[in-house]
Amino acid sequence: MEEPLHIEGGYPLEGKVWISGAKNACLVIMAASVMVQGQTILENVPRIRDVEVLANILRRLGVSVTRQEDNSLSIIVPEDVGGETPYDLAKKLRASNLLLGALLATRKEARICLPGGCDIGSRPMDLHLKGLSALGAKVKLDHGYIEASARHLQGNRVYLDFPSVGATENIMMLATLTPGQTMIENAAKEPEIVDLANFLNASGGRIRGAGTDMIRIEGVKELRGTRYAVIPDRIEAGTYMAAAVATGGNILVENVIPTHLYPIIAKLQETGATIQEEGRGLRVIGGKEILPVDIKTLPYPGFPTDMQSQMIALLSVAKGTSVIVENVFENRFRMVDEIKRMGAEVKLEGHAAVVQGVPRLFGARVKASDLRAGAALAIAGLMAKGTTEIDNAYYVYRGYEDVKAKLRGLGAKVR
Ligand code: UD1
Repeated sequence: MEEPLHIEGGYPLEGKVWISGAKNACLVIMAASVMVQGQTILENVPRIRDVEVLANILRRLGVSVTRQEDNSLSIIVPEDVGGETPYDLAKKLRASNLLLGALLATRKEARICLPGGCDIGSRPMDLHLKGLSALGAKVKLDHGYIEASARHLQGNRVYLDFPSVGATENIMMLATLTPGQTMIENAAKEPEIVDLANFLNASGGRIRGAGTDMIRIEGVKELRGTRYAVIPDRIEAGTYMAAAVATGGNILVENVIPTHLYPIIAKLQETGATIQEEGRGLRVIGGKEILPVDIKTLPYPGFPTDMQSQMIALLSVAKGTSVIVENVFENRFRMVDEIKRMGAEVKLEGHAAVVQGVPRLFGARVKASDLRAGAALAIAGLMAKGTTEIDNAYYVYRGYEDVKAKLRGLGAKVR
């Protein structure tokens, strides 16, 4: 069992923090690299649990995955790469489902264990399967596994009922090695989708339109090894920015792509914070008080659901009432009961959380229920009077590289 994370609150964050490579871009690009012949070198790979777990899944499939000193990862795929993801590892990681499109593309068959990951509502895969079937894959469910095989693949039009990130990624990967043209309509537009397209194109793929809702993929025969740097993590950046605002601090967030952060910057500014570009980073200065704001989570470029919990933590001490509506996942308010133990006043009404600001939070023993809930409780702990002890801290390490060291570097009292 992991030690709980202890945070002594009440210290404004000050200094600089370096943002790591994006978890969600890195995971899908690692999955896509099983389609590549020769050596792939990924740079800016974060040292987080989810990356370790996916690396171990790839190793079980026979792939050589080696960490190099400088935060890069070398990936070499054997000709007879395995086609079944192991249950004991796949249950730890939702993103293991991204191997479905990638393995199907290279091996023409795959058996994927229905994935685990954060429990934030039912996370079906119907859109993934609809897309892969449209290209000619035969898919069936078998005792907790998805079995897919593909004798005759052919590019096709795929319309997604909802712009699912994972479905868009799985279809893009399969379509890359499928003859003919595939068009994904109502595709997800997240920066991580664009990063996947850039990686595939750098390896010899032909994808246009990533970042818009219509992605066109011209199938190619093979992908070749390349060197590619993963984009910075917009959610990690947003989390430190929210923490700086929450503590009335003043920090420089380095290594970010500001355009990816516009939805988050806009909402933090509405709370009264000052945010300016400074060199390759963003200067974030907390206001004298935190103003309430209303937020609706939406697919990109809407406000990211992965920042929803952190915003509830910040707004729990705002001067007034905020309404936060969750439109992407159905069960993503599980941290609310925990933050209430610290004195927050939050009422849940269906898909909305009504947050009535209180003058201050108090340290308490709380439990993280998922990755972003853990991050939100850490923000609450940084603001609170007294010490907060966060159980299930491993959730936080799944997605935040060196979180304790980075927070200490900003003057927080964390152990
Ligand atoms: C990815 C991110 C996650 C982020 C989410 C939304 C990774 C590894 N994870 O998750 O951090 O919170 O995007 O930005 O990149 N849905 C269906 N059917 C499907 C697929 C999805 O109904 O076949 C629904 C889901 O239940 C959910 C919504 O669509 O309600 C969004 O899911 P999706 O965009 O697919 O998220 P993930 O790819 O799982």
